[in-house]
Amino acid sequence: MSLALVAYGRELGTRVELVGLDSNASVIETVRGVAESLGYDEASFEATAIVDYESDVPVDLLVSLHACDTATDEAIAAGVRLGAEAIVVAPCCHHELAAQIAAHDKDALLRHGLLLGRQADLVTDALRAAALEMLGYRVDVIEFVSAEHTAKNVMLRAERAPSASRAKRATAEYLELRDRWGVTPAIERLLALPLQAGGS
Ligand SMILES: C[S@@+](CC[C@H](N)C(=O)[O-])C[C@H]1O[C@@H](n2cnc3c(N)ncnc32)[C@H](O)[C@@H]1O
Repeated sequence: MSLALVAYGRELGTRVELVGLDSNASVIETVRGVAESLGYDEASFEATAIVDYESDVPVDLLVSLHACDTATDEAIAAGVRLGAEAIVVAPCCHHELAAQIAAHDKDALLRHGLLLGRQADLVTDALRAAALEMLGYRVDVIEFVSAEHTAKNVMLRAERAPSASRAKRATAEYLELRDRWGVTPAIERLLALPLQAGGS
């Protein structure tokens, strides 16, 4: 999918400098080969966990499609850390909060693993969206393709647009939701969230 950004940039006459990351070296080798065969010298690739990626070069756009579990949180945190103007992530499997929620007492909603998992997905993505809002992004949560193509069709689309009132509202909502569900999400560990009630 990332190579499509390079192709689209060429169509527009814009050079898109792409850095593709994956912790699986064989995935990186394959994509690097595809990029070379297409003559995409704008693209480079690195076999690394997203959390370990460092760069001095400012990033305009962070894109992550179906990064597993908390790798999506790593991608969001990398976008913030690297100063991305826009962050677009389509989360994949969510496991972290499901396990934390499952450790609590269960009611009629949480007693059934399928429903607990779906509820955990919603809580995870809502906390991610609120975290981005706290840090100065405007966030839309959308479906980017029809559910016929993939059930994992939720996308968080964030654009830097600092707003003190949005950050304050997001901080209060984040704390309320996190405490209501009794969870500590990866996004909180990966980002230095301004969590004093009332926001920054
Ligand atoms: C479900 S695949 C999605 C691949 C591709 N984006 C797509 O949609 O076809 C998830 C990929 O995330 C990679 N991955 C998982 N955890 C990662 C992490 N912490 N940092 C970087 N890559 C990770 C895996 O190696 C795998 O290639």
